Amino acid sequence: MNKKEAEERIFKLRKELNRHNYNYYVLSQPEISDFEYDMMLNDLIEIEKRFPDFYDENSPTQRIGDDRNQGFVQKEHKYPMLSLGNTYSQDELNDFDLRVKKIIGSNFEYVCELKYDGAAINLLYENGKLKQAVTRGDGVRGDDVTANVKTIRSIPLILRGDNYPPLFEIRGEIFMSVEGFSKLNSEREKSGDTLFANPRNATAGTLKMLNSSVVAKRPLDCFLYHILGDELPYGSHFEDLEKAKSWGFKVSPNMTKCKGINEVFNFIMKWDIERKDLPYNIDGVVLKVNSYRNQKQLGFTAKSPRWAISYKFKAEQVTTRLLSVDFQVGRTGAITPVANLKPVLLAGTTVKRATLHNDDQIKLLDLHNGDTVFIEKGGEIIPKIIGVERSSREPGSAAIKFINACPVCGWQLSRKEGEAHHYCPNETGCPPQIKGKIIHFVSRKVMDIDGLGEETIDLLYEKGFIKNIADLYELKKEQLIPLERFANKSADNIIQGLEKSKNVPFSRVLFGLGIRHVGETAAKTLANNFQSIEALRNAGLDELIEINEIGTRIAQSITEFFSKTENLEIINRLIKYGLKFELSEGEKELRSSKLEGLNIVISGTFEDHSRDELKEIIEKNGGKNVSSLSSKTNYLLAGNNMGPSKREKARKLNITIISEDDFLKMIQ
Ligand code: IVH
Repeated sequence: MNKKEAEERIFKLRKELNRHNYNYYVLSQPEISDFEYDMMLNDLIEIEKRFPDFYDENSPTQRIGDDRNQGFVQKEHKYPMLSLGNTYSQDELNDFDLRVKKIIGSNFEYVCELKYDGAAINLLYENGKLKQAVTRGDGVRGDDVTANVKTIRSIPLILRGDNYPPLFEIRGEIFMSVEGFSKLNSEREKSGDTLFANPRNATAGTLKMLNSSVVAKRPLDCFLYHILGDELPYGSHFEDLEKAKSWGFKVSPNMTKCKGINEVFNFIMKWDIERKDLPYNIDGVVLKVNSYRNQKQLGFTAKSPRWAISYKFKAEQVTTRLLSVDFQVGRTGAITPVANLKPVLLAGTTVKRATLHNDDQIKLLDLHNGDTVFIEKGGEIIPKIIGVERSSREPGSAAIKFINACPVCGWQLSRKEGEAHHYCPNETGCPPQIKGKIIHFVSRKVMDIDGLGEETIDLLYEKGFIKNIADLYELKKEQLIPLERFANKSADNIIQGLEKSKNVPFSRVLFGLGIRHVGETAAKTLANNFQSIEALRNAGLDELIEINEIGTRIAQSITEFFSKTENLEIINRLIKYGLKFELSEGEKELRSSKLEGLNIVISGTFEDHSRDELKEIIEKNGGKNVSSLSSKTNYLLAGNNMGPSKREKARKLNITIISEDDFLKMIQ
């Protein structure tokens, strides 16, 4: 690799890793597995090491993630919360062992522990009482989530006995069992909330909730694995944690002392198999040198201790047989192929189906009828097929072919150039599209109409009461009462819910219309820019594309939507029923073009507004909230606890730093 190639690769990897970091830490919606992420990061570490000219203090290799959030007070850690070096290979573990032996000789013990897959927490105990619980944050400072952590039953609020040190900290992993996670997700599915991708995301999301009474209802649990303080009873990790059990802490029952690296390998092999039977997820094994004296001799690198390392398991994979492929029709008409599989146990749940995404994916896998396939759970809930075992393919078995016609209404499918999906164009006559659009419209994030779940919409559609979203507002209580499962109260609920929905602001009504490619954010942008449905309808392609964040694809979809008379009829009816199709006077007043064309980065926490509120104010005044500092940034809106490196970078790029007060004055 020459210097030019290295530079290109470094920039590409940084960009990709930053995107995945954001998906993981901010959105809690990872797109790739930890393994793929770690491989990419290792790649970058390696190239940066070989080409030090490209050092950048903001490279993803220079940080250990950040889980800080708005709304919580931040606290500095007395002892920084470092991360662990990790490896997927036994050779590298052997190297670690050699490095350790070189410094402390061979007369020492290792402690092996499971690596729990949840969210790290630091608990502070003073005179036997839990005083504070702080997340890892950036390792130096984290969020004070004491109120939430106090709801976790396995964490003692008051210690047992009386022989604990007067002041100490203990660290561990908060997690959710696989069963608890599945229950939580099925409740969320019923109430129309977005699902968590995995127990780890559910844990991290729960820990950052502002209302601890909701946290209390979530099945969180915690294993403690690291104790710190000046007056600990023994001189070693294992013995202190054993002692901590007697004070009431939940310490892993599987923590094991090992003499020599071979015993460590045995522990790893055992748990790579037995982890499938654990009621919670682990993603590897942590290996620590037991004695504090030895730990001190070994010391730390900038990011992690030299006395510990984690060995990560490869994502669990199983093989099973492909039984058939279904083609599902979504609310926008997009067709998704779904594989039906011979049921198989994977990471604690029975898997019967896997998504195949689209035709390109089927072709890439070269999938044939009856194939034996490898499946893996990535970040998503639905497992994916990651490969085919060609050697066991039945001779002559046919390749899976994408369908030409809609499996429900029979219309010919279309696929536009550049789009990944095939679509059924029969928007107004294809039942899953009709029902899907209505379900979207009534869902919590859109019109939030009480009492109208998926099953009820199905029933009302089958009875012929509703064929589009406007029909909902013609429903009568007398029509509903005779239906099965309906009583006076539930019918009232629906009618009242529909009435209440007439106050839902324009941007959400616009989102509810189900215009292809117009999601929640685009709907907000469009509502703020055009202020009324009339103005939006009259906008030409060019006018639409001029708006920040509205690309050609969205613009074309909008003009196509308004070119259809059936859509205009529905809108006219909804206007007649009293739904909001323009910004309210209050919303209009809050708008201006004072920040037109300005890119603003928000960083830190603020006295009077949450970061989301500030983002909304920026957008309403014509500005754009961007996530990272660059030469295109005009202002850095800085709150409390903004990192010094951000300030420094802003200074270097000549970006004006403003406070919350300065900002509010700008838009006054
Ligand atoms: S020890 C300096 N032990 O893994 C020692 N960490 O990549 C640091 N984790 O942030 C931690 N199980 O969230 C330790 N038995 C265990 C663990 C464990 C899970 C997590 C923890 C930490 C991350 C390090």
